[in-house]
Amino acid sequence: MLCFRPESSKTPVAKLLSASRKRQSLRKHQIITDDREDGEAYHLSRLMRPDDANIVGNVHGGNVLKMMEEAGCIVGTRHCNAENGEHCVAALVRVEKTEFVSPMFIGEVAHVSAAITYASKHSLEVQVKVVAENILTGAKKLANKAALWYVPCSLQNVDKILEVPPPKYASPELEEEGRKRYEAQKTERLETKARSEEVVPPPSNPEDPLKERHTVAFSQSSLIHLVGPSDCTLHNYVHGGVTMKLMDEVAGIVAARHCNTNIVTASVDPINFHRKIKKGCVVTVTGRLTFTSNRSMEIEVLVDVASLAEKEKYRAVSAFFIFISLDKDNRPLPVPQLKINGEDEQRRFDEGQKRYLQNKTKRLAARESHQQ
Ligand code: COA
Repeated sequence: MLCFRPESSKTPVAKLLSASRKRQSLRKHQIITDDREDGEAYHLSRLMRPDDANIVGNVHGGNVLKMMEEAGCIVGTRHCNAENGEHCVAALVRVEKTEFVSPMFIGEVAHVSAAITYASKHSLEVQVKVVAENILTGAKKLANKAALWYVPCSLQNVDKILEVPPPKYASPELEEEGRKRYEAQKTERLETKARSEEVVPPPSNPEDPLKERHTVAFSQSSLIHLVGPSDCTLHNYVHGGVTMKLMDEVAGIVAARHCNTNIVTASVDPINFHRKIKKGCVVTVTGRLTFTSNRSMEIEVLVDVASLAEKEKYRAVSAFFIFISLDKDNRPLPVPQLKINGEDEQRRFDEGQKRYLQNKTKRLAARESHQQ
């Protein structure tokens, strides 16, 4: 008896694989016929709508990070599937320090462009830029740019990391610069990996009205999220952009509770995604203030994961977000100083101060070299 399997009964991965088999010969042909340049870069434009806004009405920093990650994932996945026999999805493993250079407003168009700038044997760097365009005046401004690192994970076995096809570099100097960035991040992340493994979850907090204002406990906040299909890649693991959006949301709640004003994300320190988060897990994203300068706040965000049965618990990601308090005309306001209780908070404050001074020195040096 002939039996037809309806298309709809195929899983998304199966559908994609059968379609890609049909297109494989065509794609090989395209590479040979010099279409490869297109495969290395990606551009997306999207009108910013009210559902992209934060409570002040500007585009939410978390949404910007999510768009950037999507663009990086597309260009990375496309590149890694161009030559490999085995299909894969590019999983986000690291985002370098990123600055929100200028705010983006609802009604503007976000132009997101992504290009591969370096590849090691098993990882690739994608540089992503977001430009905001006011379509009434035509004015354009840089909103954000960042370097994101991806690792190709096999579609058949998510734990198998595939080799990255080497990209073509415009010059040997560009390749050498990329190799130096790769070596530098490798050293830095091995240190943070060791640190993240020793961290214990912060004590559950807090909306206790009796807690003293401007302490760490007063503003500490958590968000609990059940990972559903819409959060996930074809592997059924969470997209890095989804996690970054949740992290930015929690950090924003902490900052707003501390200042009681409007707040914006100014920058995010490098983030390493050490562990995957599977569909069906419960994610607890906790933010706590670690340091305040005169006009900025550093918030540490921890992403802890548990299966529904809570058999396994682990920390998937942690990062530092810098927020600024704003007046009603979007000008920076002084930040209430953080009141420190105990040795742990003091240690975190001192470390935060060190990062603040290092970042400030780097920013000033970059500004000076830009002016020359
Ligand atoms: N940043 C940049 N590159 C990284 C990285 C990071 N945080 N972690 C791993 N890599 C690169 C390594 O440099 C190596 O490439 P190379 O051989 O060319 O140098 C490659 O990935 C494999 O590294 P390895 O040490 O063998 O693997 P690992 O034990 O670090 O595991 C993953 C790698 C991808 C399996 C693991 O980090 C992971 O599952 N991360 C989460 C990915 C994810 O789910 N992203 C979405 C987050 S919500």
